[in-house]
Amino acid sequence: MGGVAAVDPARLLAQPYWYRTLPTDTDVHRLDDGVFAMTGNGAVQEVLAHPHIVAEHPLKASARAFGPNVLDSDGADHRAFRALLAPILSAGRVDEYKRALMPGLVEALVDSVLDTECDDFYDTHAHRVPYGIVCTILGIDPALEDRFHTLTRPLARLLDYPTEETEQTHTNVTELLRLIEEQRTAGGGGERSLLETIEQTRDRKGISLTDSEVRSTALLFFLAGTETSSAFITSLVYCMGRGLFGLDELRDPAVRDDFIEEALRLYPPVQTIVRFASEDLTLGGTRVPRHSAVLASIAGANRDPRVFPHPDRFDIGRLRKGSIPFAVGAHACPGALLAKTEFSLLVESLVERCADIVVTHDRRGVASQSFSHPSDFAVRFTAK
Ligand code: HEM
Repeated sequence: MGGVAAVDPARLLAQPYWYRTLPTDTDVHRLDDGVFAMTGNGAVQEVLAHPHIVAEHPLKASARAFGPNVLDSDGADHRAFRALLAPILSAGRVDEYKRALMPGLVEALVDSVLDTECDDFYDTHAHRVPYGIVCTILGIDPALEDRFHTLTRPLARLLDYPTEETEQTHTNVTELLRLIEEQRTAGGGGERSLLETIEQTRDRKGISLTDSEVRSTALLFFLAGTETSSAFITSLVYCMGRGLFGLDELRDPAVRDDFIEEALRLYPPVQTIVRFASEDLTLGGTRVPRHSAVLASIAGANRDPRVFPHPDRFDIGRLRKGSIPFAVGAHACPGALLAKTEFSLLVESLVERCADIVVTHDRRGVASQSFSHPSDFAVRFTAK
């Protein structure tokens, strides 16, 4: 039977590593307000792939703010949204981005940090590469990147539990949609921009989505593709700077991949996924009534000691099976290949051009709301 933890879900989730505060004798926890929390690897994977656990809920703040979109839909609607995005994230396209788009952005970021010490890497640098990539894909003028960044970052809170929905977030959404439309009419991205591609895919496949649903999809894509990666690039730099291994080891592409996978396991930017029971269910022996919110802890799944011995240890050589930073099931991240390609190029360039990367000050903070990353640390990059 699942335990009843007399805790307010909002307070619980405000804590980093909230899954650790729940009893360890079960993976299914009933919290106050009829909210359920899943913490173990098996339970989290089961929930994310369960046919009667759904993403759509009329009261979800993200659905209200963005309108119908890929993240908040299920079944045929969801498949239609995914089909729209597929061409832009295909292996062929990612290969094009890898050759033509990413190297310039990565080198510019590395140029800007060499021989500096940053105590706010997340705010000042981490967004440069992801915003550069996604703005280009979307056909946005590079001069508007900072504006997009300022408007988009607070929207991450719309995906949290509990959500932070304010007048400001709605104003930002309206302004971003206006800018996206303006950029499209200015012809910024040409035929290969995201908006053009998804409209062409829609028309070719006869998918019935309105222009405004296409724009909402573009905006959600923008948020999903930028803020997750900005958070994780911060985690990568933090892991490189802690002296856990020699930077030279990361010149080997296989070791580099293992390093990125291990950092993704320990620091998944999406820590918790919110879903809803579409009917009465039993999960891990616990009755979960229809319409209950179900919180799936990706962070807990990735540090489940039954799957990952000494789960808090950074171990490049460990087996990655069971690590689910990009989730599993119908909503599993379609941008994983793009993201990992971007991270690999960045780590490669840092290793080639830095004699040393050192975390010089570390309060071991974790920004746990929205997209998670280590915070309160300073890092020094010494050029070769
Ligand atoms: C560190 C990088 C990233 C991580 C860890 C990550 C993780 C995730 C996770 C866990 C989900 C599932 C969310 C849910 O079910 O509620 C998701 C969905 C999504 N991601 Fe990513 N993501 C990353 C980067 C990207 C990038 C670079 C893009 C696109 C350029 C992207 C596009 C999307 C989209 C469109 C969805 C919605 C999919 C759906 O609902 O079917 N992500 N991501």
